[in-house]
Amino acid sequence: MADLTSLAYYIETFGCQMNENDSERIAGVLDAAGARRAASVEESGLVVVNTCAVRGKSEEKLYSYLGRLRTLKRKRGLIIAVAGCVAQLHRDGLIDGRPFVDIVVGPDNYQRLPEALAPSLAQGRVFARVLTSRSRNWDEEARRPVLRESRVSAYVTIMEGCDNFCAYCVVPFTRGREKFRPLRAVLEEVEALAQAGYREIQFLGQNVNIYRDPATGTGFPDLLERAAAVPGPEWIRFITSHPRTFGPEIVRAMARSPKVCRQLHLPLQAGSTAVLGRMKRGYTRDEYLEKIRLLRAAMPDIHLSTDIIVGFPGETEEEFRETLSALSEIRFSNIFSFRYSPRPRTAAAKLPDDVPLDVKRRRLIEVQALQKTIQAELHGTFVGRTIRVLGTGRSRKDEAVYSGRSEGYQVVNFRAPDDPVGRFVRVRITGYGPYSLRGDALAFEAPRLVAPPRPAALG
Ligand code: SAH
Ligand code: SF4
Ligand code: F3S
Repeated sequence: MADLTSLAYYIETFGCQMNENDSERIAGVLDAAGARRAASVEESGLVVVNTCAVRGKSEEKLYSYLGRLRTLKRKRGLIIAVAGCVAQLHRDGLIDGRPFVDIVVGPDNYQRLPEALAPSLAQGRVFARVLTSRSRNWDEEARRPVLRESRVSAYVTIMEGCDNFCAYCVVPFTRGREKFRPLRAVLEEVEALAQAGYREIQFLGQNVNIYRDPATGTGFPDLLERAAAVPGPEWIRFITSHPRTFGPEIVRAMARSPKVCRQLHLPLQAGSTAVLGRMKRGYTRDEYLEKIRLLRAAMPDIHLSTDIIVGFPGETEEEFRETLSALSEIRFSNIFSFRYSPRPRTAAAKLPDDVPLDVKRRRLIEVQALQKTIQAELHGTFVGRTIRVLGTGRSRKDEAVYSGRSEGYQVVNFRAPDDPVGRFVRVRITGYGPYSLRGDALAFEAPRLVAPPRPAALG
């Protein structure tokens, strides 16, 4: 492998959890080639910008960041690499008109970064390189370390890409067709993370439900069960599930395993069946509600979250009201809501973007105001209860306050007599806001590195 020992790198990450995990992989690749991580852009010789293309605004973040890097590059030498979804979407187009961008690298090509960098470093100047070929080498990846940000909770990618082609979504053009990582490699990674003391595993993929081991065809429910059997990590989560392919066998696998968190992100997008049809989501409002009923019947304490888009082409006021009524009916614990943004190459980009900006804005405000009320009410029911929290960090505002997550993935800020990071803590909830809970640590669970007794239901 190329030798990058004189190079200090800095990675800036935009976008979703998969991008965060990809940045950890990029760091692992650069580190294995001898480069070292710089604490800031100012101290680095290479900046990798890992980008998101999902909305117009996400892409604009790249361009404004590149403006800053360009100024820096004028002052001193700097290699600029654009990685991630915008890189894959625009390829050479990113270098046209931006000669200061040296490398464009898509998500399937991070292993090749050192070899792309080596000649430039040797000759003291950089040649534009575009690495956006489309086959992912999971075996080669498995040999590289992943340099993780967290010591507590680890992302594990199990599939990449999407074949759904929802009308608004650019992801099938940035992440390509569905590709599944071998189950053996997934389980080996989980075992290594268990050895390293990780408490929580988060499986990632654009559509994890449809996971199939390429060698044996083993599906997602079995993957969950096999991962839960690895001693060590006590919480398992996964993201994202598409409602169309989310079926009773996954509900059963979740309900059977106490390690799989009672929490699910299930993107609804819109409450109107007509809008869902135009979005090409492949389910109706009633079908979605039925899945929620199934989940709650099997796991009454489950926390649900979702994604909402307002102002999709042709969305009438009446159709929009159906999104509000769905939120009132389902009462999600958290939502991520967005104004529709037309994206290149998508089916919806050909439709007139006919909901005026001020209407989109107002609808988004209505969605968020309703959700805020629902969340505050839900959080109010926690006061006086003692819940299990996984400590993940310290509050920035107050040294004595720590933060963590509940099993339902709520943010919990709490006072504790001792550092709770990486430990499960019993926290008594004393207060709340719409976006977090507050409380006091009552007791620490003993660190448990060996397997808990295997529950009968799993056997
Ligand atoms: N694979 C995941 C993530 C998709 S992107 C999934 O299928 O859910 C995350 C969210 O961004 C989507 O769920 C959607 O709510 C939102 N989104 C995607 N494209 C968008 C667009 N063009 N305009 C506005 N929001 C969009
Ligand atoms: Fe995009 Fe739809 Fe695929 Fe999700 S399922 S990544 S929203 S095309
Ligand atoms: Fe964005 Fe790519 Fe993730 S478009 S949401 S970074 S898959």
